[in-house]
Parts: sequence; structure tokens; C-alpha cells
Amino acid sequence: MKLSERMSRLGTETAFEVLVRARALEAQGKSVVHLEIGEPDFDTPAHVSQAAMAALQAGATHYGPSAGLPELRAAIADDSSRRRGVKATPEMVVVTPGGKPIMFFVILALVDPGDEVLYPNPGFPIYESMIRYIGGVPVPVRLLEEKQFALDVDQLLSRVSRKTRLIILNSPHNPTGGIIPEDGLRAIADAAVKHGIPVLSDEIYGRILYDAEHKSIAALPGMQPLAIVLDGFSKTYAMTGWRLGYGVMPAPFAQQVAKLQTNSTSCTATFTQLAGVAALAGDQGSVDAMVAEFKRRRDVIVEGLRAIPGIQCVRPKGAFYAFPNIFGTGYSARALADRLLDEAGVACLAGTAFGEFGEGHLRFSYANSLANIEEALGRIRALLT
Ligand SMILES: Cc1ncc(COP(=O)(O)O)c(C=O)c1O
Repeated sequence: MKLSERMSRLGTETAFEVLVRARALEAQGKSVVHLEIGEPDFDTPAHVSQAAMAALQAGATHYGPSAGLPELRAAIADDSSRRRGVKATPEMVVVTPGGKPIMFFVILALVDPGDEVLYPNPGFPIYESMIRYIGGVPVPVRLLEEKQFALDVDQLLSRVSRKTRLIILNSPHNPTGGIIPEDGLRAIADAAVKHGIPVLSDEIYGRILYDAEHKSIAALPGMQPLAIVLDGFSKTYAMTGWRLGYGVMPAPFAQQVAKLQTNSTSCTATFTQLAGVAALAGDQGSVDAMVAEFKRRRDVIVEGLRAIPGIQCVRPKGAFYAFPNIFGTGYSARALADRLLDEAGVACLAGTAFGEFGEGHLRFSYANSLANIEEALGRIRALLT
């Protein structure tokens, strides 16, 4: 089959490829510690699963409205208003199968061929993939290690041009765990408002924070007509396989995004949406416990990595990734990631899986048990010393 030209510009998410390679090694009887995939190793809270089962038994097995069930849109609007300090209404919410479609839909809806999109690099690989796919021009904003990967706002502002159609932010950030402090958000918001540029703020890790409080650019003055917040249930409630996410955006734009959903997936599964209502309404103790556990693991992995010759590691402020600098080992990111998997049985991702500026780094997801993290650290140390 002859593929369309645009398919040659579609990227991918390496985590899934590394997972397949790691599973193949395991099938040959090799032991692998999985620090590659970005998903909590906790179970979905029991009351959420029970709500889904009750919904299935009650017959919530049919199509629903494209933008999402009214009760979930209302619950998300309330949650967003409370946590972000924005005045969100149900009409501003579009529920999608995971947060990822919001990226795709928003880029499709706003960016024409030749338009520029600013995005973090290293960063979630799907941003660049989608921008290129639709013919946009990706304009990377390099995250600097010396600034604790806090997105270099001056650099971002210097790259805004008359062709900039969209700014993508991600805080807390995958793969570095960095956050954008409030003064940085303010400077970006001022520029966005001045030039009328929409901002897609990916806040999927907004509740997985250790030493800081979550701030959303959507709450800053003048941002309401320009802010699109991406969030979801995958990380916060350990619901990656449920495929449940959402965007909060100006109501007229939400209608356009819902139209893209009508044209693609029709709607998000109905019983999973009812489980989402239960997740937002129910006890949040499981989220707090998970974040406390991630914090313990973060400290162990950061200290462990720092103790290995040739490795330096910034302490991440959020999400569940460590992004150590491995320049001192003499390896490229890809070469070390490959050796770690093939020879030491530690699955991780090369920093370059997150863009060119990820060179010299690896990403370790510490969404794994302390025992496994210790085991991985021992294996990395053995390989490098
Ligand atoms: C930065 C970022 N945004 C969005 C997503 C998408 O999450 P989901 O589609 O599972 O909601 C991920 C998943 O890894 C992510 O790391």
C-alpha cells in the first residue's frame, strides 16, 4: 500500500517499543526491571472499579454525547474550578479516551501547514509528532538542566513569532519532573495575551507534585479565552488502561473539539466515564498515599543514581520520572539505554526519545517498587563500574 506523504512525518512513543523489547527478553527467560513505561504501578482505587461494574450492570453500555456525559463534565468543571482557581463550566469540558486525543484534536483544530508551535524539548514525543504530522513547524524550547528543567521562559519568549499559532506547556514535566514556577507562567501568560496565542497546558501530572503546589496558567489574568488544559485520570488514579482524559477550554472551542471526536471516536466509553465521576467524588486518600510513596522512591532513585560514577541527577519536583545526566559515562543516551536493557536487564528510555535536546540523559520511571528500584540501581552500578 502506498502511504500518504504525511505518514512519513508521524513519530512515535518509544516507551511502547522498549516495553515490547523488554517483554521479548523476558520471554527468553531473562530478568528485566521495568523502568521504561510511564504508568503508576498501583491498582485503580477499588471504589472506582466498583462504580464501573455497577454502571455496566445498570446498562451504561451505549453511545453517549461526543463531548462527554453531563455528570462527568460537571464533576470535571467543579474539580477544575476548585483545584486551578479558574471558573470552569461543563460546556468548557470535553471528555476523551485518555488525555492524548486532546493533544491531537487541539493541534488539528488550531494549526495550519506552515504555522509554528512552541513546545518543550526534551518533552512528550507526541507533541512534535502531531505538529509535524499536520504540517506545522515544531519550534523546540530547550529545557535546561542548570535551571532544574524549569523551561527557559526567556528562550520561549524569544522564539515567539508572527507565525506562532500555539504554545504547548507541560508542568509537571515528562520526562524531567521539572515544573514551571509561577513567575514563569505569568511571563508566558503575558506574552500569550499580548499576541493572542492559545496555550495548551498539559497538566496530566498536576497532582503528582512533591515540593510545590500546582499552578495552572489557565488561572492567570486574561488567559480564560486562550487556555486549553489537558488532564485526565490515567496518572492521578492509576487508570492508564481505562482511557479516560479530558480538556478544559473556552466553550465555543470545546464544540469544535467535540466535533473532531464525533468524526473519530464518537465518544468515550460510557461506563468508564461513570467511574470517572466516582473517582472525582470519592475519597482522595489513594492519590495522597500514591504521591507519598512516589516521593520516597524519588529520593531513593535520585540518591542512588548520584552515587554512580559519571551520573548526575536533578531532583524532580513532580511526575514520576528521573532524568539523569549520563555525559560522564562516555556513552550516548541510546547506547547506554540499549546496554542497560540487553546486558543489565534494566529497561529505561534514552533521553533522545523525547527530542534532540534529551541527548546525554536517560529517563527512568520510578513507578515501580522500592525493591525493584534498588535492584535496578545495583545493576546499573555493576554495568558502569
Ligand atoms: C506529558 C503527558 N501528557 C499526556 C499523556 C497522556 O496520557 P493519557 O492519554 O494516558 O491520559 C502522557 C502519558 O504518558 C504524558 O506523559
